Amino acid sequence: MIVLGIESSCDECAAGLVVDGKTILSNVVYSQLKEHAPFYGVVPEIASRRHIESISDVVSRALQEADHDLSSVDGIAVTCRPGLIGSLLVGLSFAKGLALALDRPYVGVDHILAHLYAPHLETDIEYPYLGLLVSGGHTMIARVKAYDRIEILGTTIDDACGEAFDKVAKFYDLGYPGGVAIDKLAQKGDPEAFSFPRPSLHKGDHRFDVSYSGLKTAVIHQLEQFHNPELPATRENIAAAFQQTAIDILVDRVLRASRDTGLRRIVAGGGVAANSYLRSHLAEEKGLEVIFPSLSLCTDNAVMIAGLGYQLLAAGKRSSFDLNAQARVPGFRRTYP
Ligand code: KG4
Ligand code: ZN
Repeated sequence: MIVLGIESSCDECAAGLVVDGKTILSNVVYSQLKEHAPFYGVVPEIASRRHIESISDVVSRALQEADHDLSSVDGIAVTCRPGLIGSLLVGLSFAKGLALALDRPYVGVDHILAHLYAPHLETDIEYPYLGLLVSGGHTMIARVKAYDRIEILGTTIDDACGEAFDKVAKFYDLGYPGGVAIDKLAQKGDPEAFSFPRPSLHKGDHRFDVSYSGLKTAVIHQLEQFHNPELPATRENIAAAFQQTAIDILVDRVLRASRDTGLRRIVAGGGVAANSYLRSHLAEEKGLEVIFPSLSLCTDNAVMIAGLGYQLLAAGKRSSFDLNAQARVPGFRRTYP
């Protein structure tokens, strides 16, 4: 079954064709990076306007790249939540129009579950495992039982991990998107130049949660306080020390969740899963099987939507034409979806 995936939940307008939830025929991503860069963050109204201008071309390119036309599409999968509402509505409406015109089934797909599905496009992975989803909007550690069934063990209690990278980069004018810029600068920096604080959430309900507001405040407003005077306070050193602390906070919770649940297989996804320090740090952990998607499947794309969409369509799931987009998913805290 050839599924056309469409993704427009944030600032990437993407389309791709995937066969049987596994073989990628095309993967087109039109990034609006340049448009949002002057604002150091995604401007929702600009994002929706760019999506409406580019979506038709992006879908055409995905078909061309796969050397197919619309007649070969057996089903359509589209991100319907969570995300920026105006952006989501563009992709969802486009997908509905196509499904109606082609008389093919379509299904709305959850962006979070799709990020977790992304590594399945490249590797055969058995369930259950510990899923780590870290992006600009989400930070989550979950027991992943199936492609459509996860139990959330921990989240962030304030900022998402990628959001912290973006905010620190914005404050010090390090570049956009923040995560990529910090990762690059950090390679030339010394993380020992600063000893930033780590949150001490360890009890009961917060056992697997992370927090980034304390670290963000320390890096932005209290830099001197945490500076090791023997090393210079360069941009590279700030980036290296911030990155190491931010990722160590995450890895600490992942290892704790792995110990507590007995899940030794860890599968990562989301934009921050592209971070070089996270990738090398987790890979060094003994006794764990750690799976990262390749860099292009970490950040937003439509093949992860097509992949998960195939599983849903093959299981007989169909969305109706009154399906609405959702900015947030209620009840996110422990059970999902
Ligand atoms: O998954 P994604 O493309 O969009 C969301 O669903 O949020 O993730 C984007 C986020 C941004 O916050 C960006 O700064 C971060 O992922 N990011 C990184 C890296 N590459 C992207 N963070 C740390 N290190 C990276 N190499
Ligand atoms: Zn995403």
